[in-house]
Amino acid sequence: MEAGAGEAAPSAPRRLTLPWKVRLLLLCLDVVAGLSMRRDGTINRSIFNLFDLRATASTRPDRQGVRSADVDASRGLWARVFWPSPESSAAPLPVVVYFHGGAFTLLSAASYVYDAMCRRFCRELGAVVVSVNYRLAPEHRWPAAYEDGVAMLRYLASAGLPDSVDVPVDLSRCFLAGDSAGANIAHHVAQRWTTASSPPRSIPVHLAGAILVQPYFGGEERTEAEVRLDGNVPVVTVRGSDWMWRAFLPEGADRNHSAAHVTDDNADLADGFPPVMVVIGGFDPLQEWQRRYADVLRRRGKEVRVVEFPDAIHTFFLFPELTDHGTLVEAMKAFIREQRI
Ligand SMILES: *[C@@H]1O[C@H](CO)[C@@H](O)[C@H](O)[C@H]1NC(C)=O
Ligand SMILES: *[C@@H]1O[C@H](CO)[C@@H](O)[C@H](O)[C@H]1NC(C)=O
Repeated sequence: MEAGAGEAAPSAPRRLTLPWKVRLLLLCLDVVAGLSMRRDGTINRSIFNLFDLRATASTRPDRQGVRSADVDASRGLWARVFWPSPESSAAPLPVVVYFHGGAFTLLSAASYVYDAMCRRFCRELGAVVVSVNYRLAPEHRWPAAYEDGVAMLRYLASAGLPDSVDVPVDLSRCFLAGDSAGANIAHHVAQRWTTASSPPRSIPVHLAGAILVQPYFGGEERTEAEVRLDGNVPVVTVRGSDWMWRAFLPEGADRNHSAAHVTDDNADLADGFPPVMVVIGGFDPLQEWQRRYADVLRRRGKEVRVVEFPDAIHTFFLFPELTDHGTLVEAMKAFIREQRI
């Protein structure tokens, strides 16, 4: 029997279409991850590093005038700072503290993809970007990455930005941002920073907002989207997610641990917890956890903006060739502009 035109349309599932170049890159990623992520929860970093191309920082302006430098914060913790040319703005610039993605276990602030992404954020958002090279699991499990994020804010509050950053900055307009596991870290750093009793700071760092792009949240439950999309979309699988949580969470913890399961109504949220923008993709198995997170924030009286990309896979923002990539940067720009204090 034939369905009449229009009859099937409203409930017809969307089809995932990706350019061949993106498919090829995803296939490579899949192969490399499969080779380097061992079943026992450890990683063969020498295999992964072969494919993790690195970029070095440079105080010589790139073609768009962006410069970068690596700064040491404390105990081996460093960040890559990106700043635009002084001619780009006379007004003090907001600061975006960025946490890269990579399943809590992979990549770095020097990885080529994140160096390129932070350059673009710096240029197009008109912000100084501080990309944090937090410690990775399984060598450094929870809460090492969160502690590194807080340590970086503490460093900014005591030392400010290095002298080579010759543009005016406004650390009272500081945004935490990240993608995937990095967005999970941004949430927890915001929570820790705003609930901690604040020691005297020479420079007032104020969190004006948090931008969570496809945050990695989860729990013991399997959501409808996890079940429906498992094995049918690239990057995120139930098996891969379980592996990642086992590598990151304390030994013996289950996925209901507070690091993963942030969707409880009694989560510890301070008054100063900043407005949040949550980016959600329609082909991301994690989408229900992300919507629940937004709902919890709303119920707790927090400002939250949800930006939905119905055709987006997890990690879509890594591919500048996808049009959603440009739309995301525009949405981030609008959010930052609106958080005035
Ligand atoms: C990582 O994998 C390569 C290739 O299979 C192997 O030669 C090497 O010994 C492994 N390294 C470790 C530390 O297991
Ligand atoms: C995990 O939390 C859910 C509530 O979100 C609960 O129903 C479930 O029993 C918990 N599972 C474990 C193993 O604690």
